[in-house]
Amino acid sequence: MLDICFGLGYNSAFLFKELISQSTKLDWFALEIDKRPLNFSINSNFFKNLWDQKVIEIFESLYKKGNYIDKEFNCKIIWGDARKKICHIPKHIKFDLIFLDGFSPQKCPEIWTEEFLSKIKQSLNHRGYLITYSSSAAVRKTLIDLGLTIYKIKPKIESSANWSNGTIAILNPYFDEYKKNSFLKELSIMELEHLETKASIPYRDPSFDCTSREILKNRKDEQLESNLLPTEVWRKKWHMTKAPFNS
Ligand SMILES: C[S@@+](CC[C@H](N)C(=O)[O-])C[C@H]1O[C@@H](n2cnc3c(N)ncnc32)[C@H](O)[C@@H]1O
Repeated sequence: MLDICFGLGYNSAFLFKELISQSTKLDWFALEIDKRPLNFSINSNFFKNLWDQKVIEIFESLYKKGNYIDKEFNCKIIWGDARKKICHIPKHIKFDLIFLDGFSPQKCPEIWTEEFLSKIKQSLNHRGYLITYSSSAAVRKTLIDLGLTIYKIKPKIESSANWSNGTIAILNPYFDEYKKNSFLKELSIMELEHLETKASIPYRDPSFDCTSREILKNRKDEQLESNLLPTEVWRKKWHMTKAPFNS
């Protein structure tokens, strides 16, 4: 499992908790640029009260030593820019599960680019899952263009304002795999049409050294030149007043 943008560690803490209760073995990597959120977690009583003692031990060890090893768990966090540090994971290691949980594409475009998503795809195991809260057309279109099969994560209650809780991209899924998973659903016509608009133009960062500002500016320029349908037209057709928060 690979957790990209580990942050406070909530996502992995949930996973650890589940696997501890099942006595499952786990090989785990995380990428994170900033040590402060983990420092906050291990010093927060609120956070510590949420989890088993073992989860806290893992987090403290990750903070102090960058790793944690016992009979079941083999965990390593790599500090620094995920765009560069993903190359520090040995190439033969392929992940069954990847969490991609950075700030939104408009805030932190560098981890949603075509090039970085392509690197992530190379790290996925056969039938591996990439899970993200993002329903951005650019992210979804890029994942499809990279050859992944995507599904939406179903919201508990679907509505025009709350049409998706994110995206799961699978490398070579079994036929109809999504039907066995109650969290997954095929994209609706509305979501598929979103992928035909200018919103689907990818974020690009060819040498992994662009600033957020440069990536956003280059994409805006590309959108202005593009003949794709303006996203406003799609939004009006589907009675959307504004972009969903996670796009
Ligand atoms: C939304 S938070 C992650 C929340 C986290 N997944 C959790 O469960 O608590 C986004 C995180 O992405 C990290 N981040 C932003 N840019 C990054 C980059 N280029 N490489 C690695 N981490 C990055 C930030 O430091 C921040 O901790």
